[in-house]
Amino acid sequence: MNAALQETYIAIVGCGFVADYYMATLAQYSWMRVAGVFDIDARRLDAFGAYYRLPIYSSLDRLLADQRVSIIVNLTNPRAHYEISRRCLEAGKHVYSEKPLAMHYAQAKELVELAENRGLLISSAPCSVLGDAAQILWRGVRDNVVGKVRLVYAELDDGMVYRMPYKKWISPSGAHWPYKDEFEVGCTLEHAGYYLSWLIAMFGRVERVTACSECLVPEKLPDEELLPPDTPDFSVGVLKFETGVIARLSTSVIAPHNHAIRIIGDRGTLELKDCWFNDAKVYMRKPITLRRKTFLSPVAVRYKPVVGPREIPTRLDTGGNRMDFAAGPAELAMSITEGRACRLSPRFSLHVNEVALALQYVRGDYLPQSRFELISPAEWSTTGLQR
Ligand SMILES: NC(=O)c1ccc[n+]([C@@H]2O[C@H](COP(=O)([O-])OP(=O)(O)OC[C@H]3O[C@@H](n4cnc5c(N)ncnc54)[C@H](O)[C@@H]3O)[C@@H](O)[C@H]2O)c1
Repeated sequence: MNAALQETYIAIVGCGFVADYYMATLAQYSWMRVAGVFDIDARRLDAFGAYYRLPIYSSLDRLLADQRVSIIVNLTNPRAHYEISRRCLEAGKHVYSEKPLAMHYAQAKELVELAENRGLLISSAPCSVLGDAAQILWRGVRDNVVGKVRLVYAELDDGMVYRMPYKKWISPSGAHWPYKDEFEVGCTLEHAGYYLSWLIAMFGRVERVTACSECLVPEKLPDEELLPPDTPDFSVGVLKFETGVIARLSTSVIAPHNHAIRIIGDRGTLELKDCWFNDAKVYMRKPITLRRKTFLSPVAVRYKPVVGPREIPTRLDTGGNRMDFAAGPAELAMSITEGRACRLSPRFSLHVNEVALALQYVRGDYLPQSRFELISPAEWSTTGLQR
């Protein structure tokens, strides 16, 4: 039997808005079974369990006591991540946590060390670096298709979210989008990881972060008090990678929607429009010289050296994104079964978390402390079907 197909039981803690995203693609990994789910909100727990016909646990202790379960998927709110993940690790379970790994670097480090001391793994979302778009972009970087990479511009601007009809954003099983929690945690901590994970996978460790963040619209919720009242809703950071590459990353819930990335090399650019789409097309532009000027060709050429392993299932289309959320826990499970390093390794996840925290909270220069082993690209992207 293929090791990757060995039956693995997972349990989900937190049955809110994002849990439906995981359920949307979980069926692709039929060998990964949900033993049960738990949420402190009993109504949410019942609604989610009934909608997906999943067993429910009456308490976290009951869930942790389930001997069949080897991996716990922590989909609670960011400020509950540390406590839940710690309890899961202490109970001897591997953890896949939604981002951020923790709200403080010391806590994230403690979780990773706790896992290491117990021979367990803790891995964190986002997992979109495993998707086709990121893997093809990364292949282009490895193959130097635009020459030596010097600079990257990446944006995670979501438009004026606080002016959108977000109270109408309801998941299939009935969870409301947790707008208050999102504004309090902040868009940088919520979203920077989507590009940080790609950039750190491609260019290695971040040596220096130069960050600027502000809360530009404190009055997002006129009738409710935000705690804290001034979490940044905008940030720009300049990241210097040990490999010498510089990246500028901006995140906001203010500037017009833009999730694009441009990787700028000596011989052109590699780019794609939205990292929230696992199937976003990668394009290449080459410089052209006309008379006395050299500029990038207005014509972008599709870059597709390999074909990904599978079609993106239609159920994956959740509106604002096309991401296979279940691929994260599946990668963790497969790495354990196959006895290989997890691509979203604990130390990789810690580094992404540390840099995201610096982008949100440090104003000025910050030198990350965490180190990690370079992660390997997906096998299909290195061999893949040649087009
Ligand atoms: N909302 C999104 O669009 C989105 C997208 C990607 C990732 N995420 C991430 O997913 C995570 C969850 O976000 P969400 O949008 O689903 O939030 P949510 O508020 O909709 O759901 C979180 C659930 O966790 C439960 N919970 C909180 N503390 C708990 C505890 N101690 N024990 C058990 N259950 C507990 C809550 O009752 C709630 O039902 C966050 O880390 C967020 O960053 C959210």
